[in-house]
Amino acid sequence: MKSSALSRIDLIVRALTYSQANAGIFRGEQMRILLCGGAGYIGCHTYATLSERGHQVAIADNFSNSSPEVLTRLRQLSGAPVPFHRLDLRDKPALEALFAQESFDAVIHFAALKAVGESCERPLDYFENNIGGTINLLQAMRGAGVRRLVFSSSATVYGDPEQVPVNEQARLQVTNPYGRTKLVVEELIGDLCRSDRDFRAANLRYFNPVGAHASGLIGEDPNGIPNNLMPYICQVAVGRREKLSVFGGDYPTVDGTGVRDYIHVVDLARAHADALDYLVRADRSLTVNLGTGRGISVLELANAFSSASGREIPYQIVERRPGDVAEVYADPGLAQQLLGWRAEYDVDAMCRDAWRWQSMNPQGYQGG
Ligand code: NAD
Ligand code: UD1
Repeated sequence: MKSSALSRIDLIVRALTYSQANAGIFRGEQMRILLCGGAGYIGCHTYATLSERGHQVAIADNFSNSSPEVLTRLRQLSGAPVPFHRLDLRDKPALEALFAQESFDAVIHFAALKAVGESCERPLDYFENNIGGTINLLQAMRGAGVRRLVFSSSATVYGDPEQVPVNEQARLQVTNPYGRTKLVVEELIGDLCRSDRDFRAANLRYFNPVGAHASGLIGEDPNGIPNNLMPYICQVAVGRREKLSVFGGDYPTVDGTGVRDYIHVVDLARAHADALDYLVRADRSLTVNLGTGRGISVLELANAFSSASGREIPYQIVERRPGDVAEVYADPGLAQQLLGWRAEYDVDAMCRDAWRWQSMNPQGYQGG
């Protein structure tokens, strides 16, 4: 009797201490958020959205696939200095030092290598960077008692889906080392959530992020020849590439070309802020698709871009790209149900904003 009364008091005291320690985040107020890989394409748009919502945001990045110029642009956008830590997630002592020096309520983890072809040539580098880096991050978070994480996963975890639209119950399969890193990290995070009752994580499975911030100050700036469709089209429109190679014209789709679910990066950024709110408010973990639910073919996208930019997009239909599938688009219903989130921008807005960014920055961030 006495011991159960004591344990009840103990529980109440613990609950009070816990809720006081998390008072800021449980009231859904301003959070202190670390964006790992925040200088990259999706990270910098998310920085802009979180800052607009009044959160205190810091970026950690090693610039392996981004430019310091992003920080200047974000400063222009937000009107305030951007807290930045140059850091490589593979450097565990540096990560631990950062978490010892600063207090964070949550982490959003974008940092990864993401080129599918390269991952087939250098799988170990991908495992070390994407999986090893994440383990270091999770350990540093654990050491500092940070228990809210949003992770950049990908529709690649569905491989070649049996049916579309794809919902979160679809079979998971890996078709390349990059995809394997996403699936393994989702599983690691799942194990961590099961082992630590207070850890909450959101796995966000992005479909095909495109577009740019309406200011034209930040956008996608791939190194070398773009692997992905939208940046390639942008570079054709701006005169950096001669014509688009359309990979395959004989798929069983609306016009024979591949169909994907393109989603505006600003919609995607908003979903990160909503997911963080959910982790705090609902106090539950989640895994959701982020797409529009609408499939667009390669030629439909090229035509929409042509109308938005007023530029012709010359193209040639060539062989299929190995590993590509005919048609993938999301069932985004769960994200709407849990987060109250849905994509707002249509394909014309995606093309208009991508073109604004590209025409204002023909050489990307390099032009200064
Ligand atoms: P990005 O390459 O523009 O951004 C990633 C950032 O992480 C870069 O700034 C890079 O310098 C940094 N980084 C990489 N490894 C690091 C390390 N070890 N330490 C510190 N920083 C490191 O990519 P993105 O398009 O913004 O994608 C963000 C995340 O979303 C990635 O995890 C990617 O796999 C995932 N994702 C992207 C897409 C897409 O089409 N862009 C689709 C699905 C999933
Ligand atoms: C690719 C990756 C995927 C990753 C996603 C991120 C491959 C095989 N898959 O997906 O793992 O999560 O990027 O956004 O690389 N296309 C052309 N010409 C081009 C480029 C692309 O016709 O120059 C076509 C492709 O065949 C495809 C569509 O455009 O039908 C979209 O391609 P892309 O932008 O590379 O995205 P995914 O293949 O969906």
